Amino acid sequence: MNVLLFGPPGSGKGTQAKDLAAALGVPHVATGDIFRRHLKEGTELGLRAKGYMQGGGLVPDDFTCEIVASRLEEPDAGAGVLLDGFPRTAAQAEWLVRWLAKRGQRVDALVNLVVPDEVILERITGRRSCPSCGATFHVVFAPPADGRCTRCGAAVIQRDDDKDSVVANRLLTYARETVPVLPVLRPVTTIHEIPATGDVAEIRARVFAALGLS
Ligand code: AP5
Repeated sequence: MNVLLFGPPGSGKGTQAKDLAAALGVPHVATGDIFRRHLKEGTELGLRAKGYMQGGGLVPDDFTCEIVASRLEEPDAGAGVLLDGFPRTAAQAEWLVRWLAKRGQRVDALVNLVVPDEVILERITGRRSCPSCGATFHVVFAPPADGRCTRCGAAVIQRDDDKDSVVANRLLTYARETVPVLPVLRPVTTIHEIPATGDVAEIRARVFAALGLS
């Protein structure tokens, strides 16, 4: 089963993804996480993505689709994936539909996390991330322990693209380039609009109910 987790920056896609992927029995594939891992390791791919990410823009479509294709070709993704942060442009959405069709698959559902801008800003500016294991925290809602990751103990940091000046551009990019994904996919899949304010467990329950999961 192929499910897309969609929504603006900071809407809670990463927070919801782990349980959802486990319930669906498919791997969680997040393009932002893939790019950040390459950035951290200083690979060629990371260097190519760096400028786009730090400015709050999007990594070019051909490059991004290539990366997604190679991840989807891995054996664990054969029966489907939970895609988080992809597709992010109409062209990526068209590419994904074609790519899955060649494999005899489709986008089975899209979960759109709907969050007002003021809540997004509160979530993004308070987010802290573990540079070592990738765990995510929030200074108010899910605080790290004395500035350290509760999973691996590393000092948490604020992502470069979570700084105020970049966040504004990410939101603009979302409105301009990513919202147009919806009309491309509406005719070919089921779109579940999920109000994504409230606590994490409540939102998870709404997503699970929409997808018929328990
Ligand atoms: P990416 O990492 O995908 O960033 P994003 O979509 O902007 O999403 P975020 O990771 O910011 O937020 P999220 O929705 O996962 O929220 P989270 O769960 O962390 O992409 C980064 C960059 O990579 C892009 O800008 C682009 O340059 C590039 N890129 C990636 N994919 C691309 C693509 N397909 N094409 C081109 N370029 C691409 O939650 C946020 C905070 O809120 C956390 O602190 C969390 O603890 C807190 N929180 C979550 N839920 C709740 C709740 N219910 N109540 C209170 N707090 C909550």
